[in-house]
Amino acid sequence: MVILGPESVVLTDRVTVVTGAASGVGAATARAYARFGADVAICDRNAAGLAETAAAVRAVGRRAIEAVIDVRHADAVRSHIAEVAATFGKIDVLVNNAGGSFLADFMATNDKGQQAMIDENFTQCTTFIRECVPFMSRGAGGSIINITSIEAGQAAPGFGVYAAMKAAMESLTESLALELGPAGIRVNAIALDAVHTAGDANMMAQVDQPGIAFEPTYTPPLGWFADADDAAGVCVFLAGDLSRFVTGCSIAVDGGNGAAKGWRRLPRESNYRT
Ligand SMILES: NC(=O)c1ccc[n+]([C@@H]2O[C@H](COP(=O)([O-])OP(=O)(O)OC[C@H]3O[C@@H](n4cnc5c(N)ncnc54)[C@H](O)[C@@H]3O)[C@@H](O)[C@H]2O)c1
Repeated sequence: MVILGPESVVLTDRVTVVTGAASGVGAATARAYARFGADVAICDRNAAGLAETAAAVRAVGRRAIEAVIDVRHADAVRSHIAEVAATFGKIDVLVNNAGGSFLADFMATNDKGQQAMIDENFTQCTTFIRECVPFMSRGAGGSIINITSIEAGQAAPGFGVYAAMKAAMESLTESLALELGPAGIRVNAIALDAVHTAGDANMMAQVDQPGIAFEPTYTPPLGWFADADDAAGVCVFLAGDLSRFVTGCSIAVDGGNGAAKGWRRLPRESNYRT
C-alpha cells in the first residue's frame, strides 16, 4: 500500500541515471532528483554543462557521477553504467533523455545521416536499458522513463526519421512494460512539446526559415510555453511511489498540443502565462 504523503513523493537514496543532463530537460531532471533526495549519475557530450549539473547535485548534498560521453558509443555507455553500479550497487531509475534532430527532408537524408538519427534517438536508449536493468532487478524494482515527443504520434515533415525513432521508443515502452513488469520494473514515456530549451529553440529556428513548406503549431492550448522544470516534475512523479501502478503509458507534457490535432490557438493570445 502506498501511504499518500510527502514520503511517497521523495526519492530518498534512490540511484538515478539521467542521460543528456548538461542542459534542458535532462539537467532540470537531474537537479530535481537530487532535491528530492536521490543520487544522480549523469552523462552528456557537453562537459561544461555537465559539470554545472553535477555541482548543483552536490550542492544539495547528494552524490553525482558524471561521464562526458557521446551516448551513441555503446562501449562508453557500458563503462559509465559499470562505474555507476560499482559505486552505488544498484540503479532505481533510468531517464533516457538524450536525443535530438536536425531539419532534413527525407529524400535529402543519406544513409549516414539516417543512421545517426537512429543511433541518437533509438539505439543508444536500448543500450542504456540493457545495461541498467540488471542492476534494477537487484533492488525493489525500478522505473524507466523514455523521453519522446508528440511527433511520435503525428507527422513531422523535415524530421521524419527522428519522429519515427520517437514512435519506436513509444512502441518499445509498451513491450518492455510487459517484459519487465514481472521484475517490478515500470516503463513509461513522456511525450514532450513546447518546452523551452536550447534544443527546442534550435529546432524551431530551423523551421522558421523562408521556403519551409510546413510549420508546427506554436502556441499550446494552455497559452504558454513550458520550461524544463515542467518536464522534470513528471520525471519525479514517474520515478517515485505515487506512480507505482503506472506502466506502459505515454504521458503528454505539451500544454495540450497533442490533443489539439488540427486546432490551434490564435497567435494574438500567445506568450502569456497565468
Ligand atoms: N524541448 C521540447 O519541447 C522537446 C520536444 C520534443 C522532444 N524533446 C526531447 O526531449 C529530450 C531533451 O531535449 P531538450 O529539449 O532538453 O534539448 P537540449 O538540447 O537542451 O538537451 C539535450 C541534451 O542531450 C545532450 N545530447 C544529445 N545528444 C547526445 C549524444 N549523442 N551524446 C551525449 N549527449 C547528447 C545534449 O548535449 C544536451 O545537453 C530530447 O530527447 C528531445 O528529443 C524535447
